[in-house]
Amino acid sequence: MMKILKHILKSALLASLVGIGFQAVPVLADPVYSLRGLVGVEDESEMIPNRRAMAVDGGIDVSFDDQPPMVPHSIDNTRITLHENSCLGCHSKDNQKESKAARPPRSHYRTRDGEKLREISTGRYFCTQCHAPQAYTEPLVENEFRN
Ligand code: HEC
Ligand code: HEC
Repeated sequence: MMKILKHILKSALLASLVGIGFQAVPVLADPVYSLRGLVGVEDESEMIPNRRAMAVDGGIDVSFDDQPPMVPHSIDNTRITLHENSCLGCHSKDNQKESKAARPPRSHYRTRDGEKLREISTGRYFCTQCHAPQAYTEPLVENEFRN
């Protein structure tokens, strides 16, 4: 209860600070909720259930030029560490013929200065930095993006 009160007070204070110059009377604005709700940073929030990973034959359409395509399969059993990258177990030049996984484009085998490399560039090693898996779930926040 105290936490909620504190939160409301904080939001009211912020709202009044922002309001200075525009209106003389502070306005009690709606509290701003994070996606975790009103859970303190040091408190544990409710576990979010794992959603079923989206699997799409033929891949997921990109929405804009140069978008890293989204991962059209589950990556639950993959690991990317200093010593192993299981994405490359299917996606590397050597393995993709057998696995039928899309081959990373040439850009992934070049240094920043454009020199060719035999192995995947270190700048592309952490695949999930750019390629996000998808799940069957509702969007957390409204999104009106159109491609
Ligand atoms: C067991 C083999 C396997 C593993 C492991 C694997 N992939 Fe794939 N991946 C595939 C196959 C097969 C496809 C092609 C699916 C299709 O198009 O129907 C694919 C497609 C993709 C695509 C879509 C490419 C496009 O042009 O749309 C991306 C991106 C991708 N994988 C990223 C990853 C990442 C990142 C990892 C590691 C976290 C990973 N994959 C691990 C087999 C694998
Ligand atoms: C720094 C961001 C970044 C990282 C890291 C990265 N990629 Fe990509 N990837 C991209 C972008 C952007 C594209 C599409 C544009 C292009 O051709 O470069 C792409 C395209 C692809 C494609 C599609 C090829 C096709 O023909 O449609 C595959 C497959 C792929 N990446 C696999 C991987 C794998 C596997 C890794 C990890 C070893 C990885 N990528 C790491 C940004 C990244």
